[in-house]
Amino acid sequence: MPELLISHHPVIHNKLAQLRAQDTPPAVFRKLVHELSFLLGVEATQDLATTEVQVQTPMQSCKAQILAESIAIVPILRAGLGMSVGLSGLLPDAPVRHLGMYRDEETLQPVAYYSNIPAGQCEDLVLLVDPMLATGGSALMAIEQIKRWQPKRIKFLALLAAPEGVAALHDAHPDVAIHLCVLDEKLSPKGYILPGLGDAGDRIFNT
Ligand code: PRP
Ligand code: URA
Repeated sequence: MPELLISHHPVIHNKLAQLRAQDTPPAVFRKLVHELSFLLGVEATQDLATTEVQVQTPMQSCKAQILAESIAIVPILRAGLGMSVGLSGLLPDAPVRHLGMYRDEETLQPVAYYSNIPAGQCEDLVLLVDPMLATGGSALMAIEQIKRWQPKRIKFLALLAAPEGVAALHDAHPDVAIHLCVLDEKLSPKGYILPGLGDAGDRIFNT
């Protein structure tokens, strides 16, 4: 069954309130994106497989658990970069493989302009990250590219989503789990998430 996991964590929702506010300056906005991504990453990695190892503490030897799956972080540029900073803090050994896409303002269709997904080398789990899931067009195009790379599983992490984007993703890729901080009300006629936070890329990069 497809998974849609929406955070109920009070710290996440407290930070989201600050993130949404229109008078939050870019430096604070950027830091909140990093922090929220780290926290959402903790929630989204709860089911990672681990393997047992023996560790020597200063006191004695003991059993410990280490991650058993290899993980790649794939941000959709530009706004996904902000999330990859937080995710890299959580998973410092995970390679970051970028996908460049922007939404055409008229058609709302995604336009791909960059990919550094390598041929023939794939981590077990791909964490695809983008703060905004609006129509779902960008995420769908990204997942199609990632599936050609054949990871064992893909999780999509977004800070905010519109129901329209979630439905589009579920319909096309029911095997991809979706992790959100919050599910918003709807899309505006121009394809913005409502109530949303405006343009995530512009607010992260102060453009
Ligand atoms: C935003 C956002 C997503 C996309 C979501 O990117 O970061 O990638 O829009 O919309 P969709 O679900 O309708 O495809 P944008 O095109 O603004 O590019 P940017 O990150 O470079 O600002
Ligand atoms: N992209 C954004 O940055 N914000 C939205 O509300 C929708 C798409």
